[in-house]
Amino acid sequence: MKFFIDTANLNQIREINDLGILDGVTTNPSLMAKEGIKGKEAVFQHYRTICETVNGDVSAEVVSTDFDGIIREAQELAKIHPRIVVKVPMIKDGVKAIHWLTEHGIPTNCTLVFSAAQAILAAKAGARYVSPFIGRIDDINWDGLELIEQIAHIYTVQGFETQILAASIRSSLHIVKCAEAGADVCTCPYDTLIGLFKHPLTDIGLAKFLEDAKKWQ
Ligand code: G3P
Repeated sequence: MKFFIDTANLNQIREINDLGILDGVTTNPSLMAKEGIKGKEAVFQHYRTICETVNGDVSAEVVSTDFDGIIREAQELAKIHPRIVVKVPMIKDGVKAIHWLTEHGIPTNCTLVFSAAQAILAAKAGARYVSPFIGRIDDINWDGLELIEQIAHIYTVQGFETQILAASIRSSLHIVKCAEAGADVCTCPYDTLIGLFKHPLTDIGLAKFLEDAKKWQ
């Protein structure tokens, strides 16, 4: 399973990238707003910097909801860097645009996916990635991980090539469970990636080894 980081924060991206475990980045309009970036030029420059930092796909989201607008925005975003993947919402015009963009060689990430039905549409349209939002499903007391399992099963049985990009991750356990469930990619907030390192027995064990090492150093 590939690790993407779900942030537009450059410090977090650089820190995780330096660990050598980062395969890509996803952003969305809310994450860009959180960084205080304003204006098209600044936003495009920010995407460029992320692309130059990480050797992997970088999702940049359109904010148009009509076919022509999505295509126009997608073409502009795709020109920023060859590793840009255009994030398109799961709506009728979005699916139509994903099909058009795929035909024209622009990779897409179909976002705001909450059902297997929507995941089938994204795959049929030729999206490179489908992004089921598992945390937001859990938030309404459904089971987000069950959706990952269901999509993984359908894509395997049907031979769809779209990669399952588990999004809206809330915990390190989510990441582990996504790996078990067959996600191709998990896009993780910084804290959940750092959380993967943590185990109290590692800390206790290391403290003891370092203490004992003083006896023979
Ligand atoms: O980037 C999409 C997704 O990961 C959003 O997560 O935490 O806003 O539900 P969240």
